[in-house]
Amino acid sequence: KGNGYCSITLVLGGNSVGRVWLLRGLHASDKEKPADQMQLMSPVSSLKDDLKNKLFGQHVASEIIFKAVTGFMSNKNPKKPLALSLHGPTGTGKSFVSQLIADNIYKKGRDSQFVHLFSATHHFPHQDQTATYKSQLQDWIKGNVRNCERSMFIFDEMDKMPPGVIDVTEPFLDFYPRLDGVSFQKSIFIFLSNAGADNITQTALDFWKKGRDRKEIKLKDLETSLSASVFNGFFQSSLIDCDMLDAFIPFLPLEYRHVVQCVMAEMKARGLQPDKDEADKLARDLVYFPKPENVFAKSGCKTSGTFYLLHSD
Ligand SMILES: Nc1ncnc2c1ncn2[C@@H]1O[C@H](COP(=O)(O)OP(=O)(O)OP(=O)(O)O)[C@@H](O)[C@H]1O
Ligand SMILES: [Mg+2]
Repeated sequence: KGNGYCSITLVLGGNSVGRVWLLRGLHASDKEKPADQMQLMSPVSSLKDDLKNKLFGQHVASEIIFKAVTGFMSNKNPKKPLALSLHGPTGTGKSFVSQLIADNIYKKGRDSQFVHLFSATHHFPHQDQTATYKSQLQDWIKGNVRNCERSMFIFDEMDKMPPGVIDVTEPFLDFYPRLDGVSFQKSIFIFLSNAGADNITQTALDFWKKGRDRKEIKLKDLETSLSASVFNGFFQSSLIDCDMLDAFIPFLPLEYRHVVQCVMAEMKARGLQPDKDEADKLARDLVYFPKPENVFAKSGCKTSGTFYLLHSD
């Protein structure tokens, strides 16, 4: 604290990766029986496989997410909820990885009634209704955690959130054993934003220009760039406090080869035989930057799916 940025190592210490997460602590009396909806994280976690096989080009984010999520879920008595802040350019997998996390915690995955997705432009479009949003959001979180303490809340488009709205989550993220009779210590909060994207991209570009392997990029190479931009008024919120957010997780801009992987995955998901030539063709049609090097896909993998649809007729 006080040095301008939060150290990510907070969440990395003392995790017990690989331990079976037992569903103790869920109230048997909960009327909707959350336990029925959940899935055990097995010792050889399927989250690890998902991150390895489905998330492309994000070795830094993958590692932190895996350690943070498995460490948290295997802790029977977490002192505070897990709060992750995912940052980076568009189309690099932030929303996607949130879904993967949900898929590995709840039996119904991202469709579980215990996974709550808020998108700034969809749920909180009007700046002048901040007061209403705040009280609704507070009630919503409280009510849902009362029903299932392993609830998950995803806040998308943090950069577009009306100032102040997100502050209502603050008391929930703290180390309080109970608030109004509800314990929030087992819930998960994930914040998604593009904050820090330019700095992350610059770092990735510097590595590329020096001919260094992308995989050599370490969290510490990104930490300062993340902190500078993140703390630069982005949340417009007092959430930016080392005690509240457990980890700032950087997402790197994606390269051509990652887009090819995305297209191939998309083909597979549609039950088609992945076709490398076809994937190459589609990936080549996307826009890359910066000029003239054309290293990174401007929209990451975001357009590759739709693109594929357009071209497959
Ligand atoms: N790193 C990745 N690995 C695999 N697939 C990816 C990756 N990044 C993006 N995709 C694919 O592209 C789609 C769009 O990405 P996603 O919505 O996760 O981007 P985002 O980082 O949330 O972008 P934004 O900042 O615009 O919200 C995903 O649903 C997924 O299919
Ligand atoms: Mg997104």
